[in-house]
Amino acid sequence: MSVRTTMKDRTVRAREVLARCDALANFSEDANSLRRTFLSPPMHNCHTAVAGWLKSLGVSTKIDAAGNIRGVYPGMDSASPRILIGSHLDTVPNAGKYDGILGVVLAIALLEELEGKRFPFAIEVIGFSEEEGVRFGVPFIGSRALTGRFDEELLGRRDRNGISVREAIQQFGLDEKRISEAALANDVLGYLEFHIEQGPVLEKLGRQLGVVETLVGQTRLALRFLGRANHSGTTPMDARRDALAAAAEWIVAAESYALKTHELVATIGSIEAKPGATNVIPGEVRLSLDIRHRSDEVRTRAARELTELAEAIARKRGLCSQWNSLLEQNAVHLDDFLTGQIEAAIRSSGCEPHRMTSGAGHDAMILAEKVPAAMIFLRSPGGISHDPAEAVLVEDAEKAIEAGVRLLDGLASSQEFLGRKNRA
Ligand code: GLV
Ligand code: MN
Ligand code: MN
Repeated sequence: MSVRTTMKDRTVRAREVLARCDALANFSEDANSLRRTFLSPPMHNCHTAVAGWLKSLGVSTKIDAAGNIRGVYPGMDSASPRILIGSHLDTVPNAGKYDGILGVVLAIALLEELEGKRFPFAIEVIGFSEEEGVRFGVPFIGSRALTGRFDEELLGRRDRNGISVREAIQQFGLDEKRISEAALANDVLGYLEFHIEQGPVLEKLGRQLGVVETLVGQTRLALRFLGRANHSGTTPMDARRDALAAAAEWIVAAESYALKTHELVATIGSIEAKPGATNVIPGEVRLSLDIRHRSDEVRTRAARELTELAEAIARKRGLCSQWNSLLEQNAVHLDDFLTGQIEAAIRSSGCEPHRMTSGAGHDAMILAEKVPAAMIFLRSPGGISHDPAEAVLVEDAEKAIEAGVRLLDGLASSQEFLGRKNRA
């Protein structure tokens, strides 16, 4: 009887997890779609909601100077080491409700499921402030503050409205001089992140949960083609230095390059033509390039060859091209011990786990530099993400909670885990 009751409670809890993701999706910078970028005003509302759910568990929260929300569920005693469970609360434009957010809300649900039980480790829940890189073009600002990799030069970087990272931090009511205080102490045993898969693999295999072994590396660049703006009616076709025509040639060439390179993905996701009028030949075009591969060598070669290609296309057309790097993130292999523990926990909750590679970037790849890190994926219906059609099934959220509880129980009784030398 008690088993049946627990299972029913878990379904209710899973439904509540999805309802909470729905609720957080109301906190948006845009009126008719979800966009919640780093330190934007709706992030305050999001923090208030997350803090309220944690407060009901007796967990108080603070916002660190990088804008991450953090709350610690105590361990058996005040000297207990800690594990971290989290994901990010920022979104892309026109986002779905679950990318990142689900991982934070599931972490809270896991604590609720414990009903006051204490472990030989404390559990710190973290909602990262910035993972997507939308506002300032640079991702992982939140998690970098925890690993002490926050680059001071970033403070001067400006968003589209000319607001610097320093000003954004201050406008949010925080003090950029205290960012170093966000860094992890040396009492961290590991980092766990629940996340939607954002791809079709688990659904195709008919699996509810996956475990991530490796995250592919990423290069992100900002490129400019510089030509000459001129009159669209009076400038003959052979006398133009059209920056948008050059960019278009390069975009198609980059697509062909990626199609010919095994497993390479290359995306030009944003483009801006200036001055941006129907009757003016574009004199300047700014674009982004995002390249990913599991091999750092293949990825860095692709970045070099694609920027050389941009230069060659620009030269041929009498233009010039420029680029600067926004991100060089190597591929990351997650912690083998934790990955094995997750696999066992998924299996003991009645699901067949699938070991996989993530093409998406995650806070775990930054945390992994300092502490053992691991990730659990929930299947993504339709394989859709970074779009409002993103979805999560209640039964998958329910299994994720069950696997999470089993994982915590397993870690709490593992001398190998508890005896690990802290790395943070
Ligand atoms: C984050 O979602 C990324 O992989 O770009
Ligand atoms: Mn994302
Ligand atoms: Mn994400």
